[in-house]
Amino acid sequence: MSEDAVRSAYSGLAELYIELLGSIGSVHAGDLEFIAGHLGGTAGPVLDLGCGPGHLTGFLHSLGADVSGVDLVPEFVAHARAAHPAVRFEVGSLMDLERADGSVAGVLAWFCLIHLDPRELDGALAAIRRLLAPGGTLVLGMFEGAAVEPFDHKVLTAHRWPADELSDRLAGSGFAEVDRLFRGQEGDRRPYVVLAARAV
Ligand SMILES: C[S@@+](CC[C@H](N)C(=O)[O-])C[C@H]1O[C@@H](n2cnc3c(N)ncnc32)[C@H](O)[C@@H]1O
Repeated sequence: MSEDAVRSAYSGLAELYIELLGSIGSVHAGDLEFIAGHLGGTAGPVLDLGCGPGHLTGFLHSLGADVSGVDLVPEFVAHARAAHPAVRFEVGSLMDLERADGSVAGVLAWFCLIHLDPRELDGALAAIRRLLAPGGTLVLGMFEGAAVEPFDHKVLTAHRWPADELSDRLAGSGFAEVDRLFRGQEGDRRPYVVLAARAV
């Protein structure tokens, strides 16, 4: 999926997305615990890539993390800046951020890689790995299923992934999985997996 397609799909729905999903109350308490446990106490810069409305960036900031948010969608970044004035946000792509190699200690990629064509995942993981210092932590949230397959996500086509396949892809991109969390179907929320991985 091209970045233009992702940007334009989310731009058109930004207001609704912010209303429905743009606050910390929309995130499962167990997910917040997982994110806090792996990234809340990070010493060094943390990036929330594909931060959307910025609620998780704000959450990590409230835990004392030196975090900033990045998203393709200007409407999300404008909202995030207004909602979290003490936090830095920028419009940009995780694929070509102007940051030195190894300059960040943690990355949150919370459902921001879901729209990639499966052939594009390794490139995105490599871009994230480039940013992370050895020993740095990635927390990755993705829809989960028995096979890699597309589905009709409300914004635009997304993919579900088997957790072990994601873990293998991470290993092939210079990461080692250290933790995982499954969340099954809840209401209309699809099953997903959250992986924490160390840059090796
Ligand atoms: C499903 S939303 C998740 C947003 C936010 N993390 C949340 O939990 O609400 C996916 C987000 O990833 C962003 N995104 C997708 N590809 C990106 C890229 N290459 N660089 C930066 N952001 C990207 C989209 O603009 C969108 O805001």
